[in-house]
Amino acid sequence: AHQWRGVIREYADRLPVTEQTRVITLGEGGTPLVPAPALSELTGCEVYLKVEGMNPTGSFKDRGMTMAMTAAVASGAKAVVCASTGNTSASAAAYATQAGLTCAVLVPDGKIAMGKLSQAIAHGAELLQVDGNFDNCLEVARKLSENYPVFLVNSVNPARIEGQKTGAFEVVDALGDAPDYHLLPVGNAGNITAYWKGYKEYAAPYASPTAGELPAVATRLPVMWGFQAAGSAPLVAGHPITEPDTIATAIRIGNPASWEQAIAARDESGGLIDAVTDEEILEAHRWLSAREGVFVEPASAAGVAGLIKYHARGEVPAGKRIVITVTGHGLKDPQWALRNADGSDVAPTKVEFDVVAVAAALGLA
Ligand code: F0G
Repeated sequence: AHQWRGVIREYADRLPVTEQTRVITLGEGGTPLVPAPALSELTGCEVYLKVEGMNPTGSFKDRGMTMAMTAAVASGAKAVVCASTGNTSASAAAYATQAGLTCAVLVPDGKIAMGKLSQAIAHGAELLQVDGNFDNCLEVARKLSENYPVFLVNSVNPARIEGQKTGAFEVVDALGDAPDYHLLPVGNAGNITAYWKGYKEYAAPYASPTAGELPAVATRLPVMWGFQAAGSAPLVAGHPITEPDTIATAIRIGNPASWEQAIAARDESGGLIDAVTDEEILEAHRWLSAREGVFVEPASAAGVAGLIKYHARGEVPAGKRIVITVTGHGLKDPQWALRNADGSDVAPTKVEFDVVAVAAALGLA
């Protein structure tokens, strides 16, 4: 039986590694591409979800972190640093543990989900809650890495993008070619940059540093549709947002580091980057849980919110093959499932330990 070996070993001929590289991996990638029958029925399209919550720390960040931490070790670093809205810090903390490196994480005070905070602490990171937002944290992390002996593992590090591009490879490997459309949430804009790079590399002959000239795997490129949260949509506004806000804390970002690359992915693919409101995000979050059986954190639902919104406007042509990356696991930030659509709390039904009472509560008697 084939055991998935993590993205570096699975895609070694397309990544900047050699036989001698000491690979830091927790077995990331190889995530399921799950058919979404309810979204397919709604749109008349063939819709799939790339379920990135299935990665070792519960988000797509692990694809980039295996590369970044491997690069950190190769460089002789003793310590790494990142700024994060939560998932990057959880991933960095876990991979640094395996690498034997000290890990410092800077997170916006009070604005990261409990599951992510717990992960960073459990893995022994030096966790600093900064009095500022993600953009402030990233500025400090960059300056720290420029002036002190610490290695930056944010997606401004090209190794991160290299690792994350494997998401696109896996989609093509699963479908046999690129989809017509690829939708995903956009925050710091590393992931849209990485997917676009991956799709382009798979659609062209590739001069592999280790394996020579590799033929194209895909015959075409998808149209990229990225979605930001309405209160944190600098790429839609066309300028940085100084006070970004959204319940989708993972993408509460006002000045994305990969700004130009995200715009290039949009324009080169003939795609778009638009905003979805918190209400639309939560509606998509409920749709995924209740209709597709896939539990994600709110930010992860932004791509699905975008599909539903554009379908309602009549702008999703029927018959297309659509892949949506759902970026992180629902258990990261589970509180949203315990709220009804009207904002009221969900109250679980209490019942005596008696079969007749249980049957009655279930409407069976
Ligand atoms: N979805 C989730 C669950 C995320 O955690 C992030 C980013 C994104 C989407 C957006 O991806 O930044 O590549 O455009 N989280 C970062 C973090 C910022 O610190 O964990 P992006």
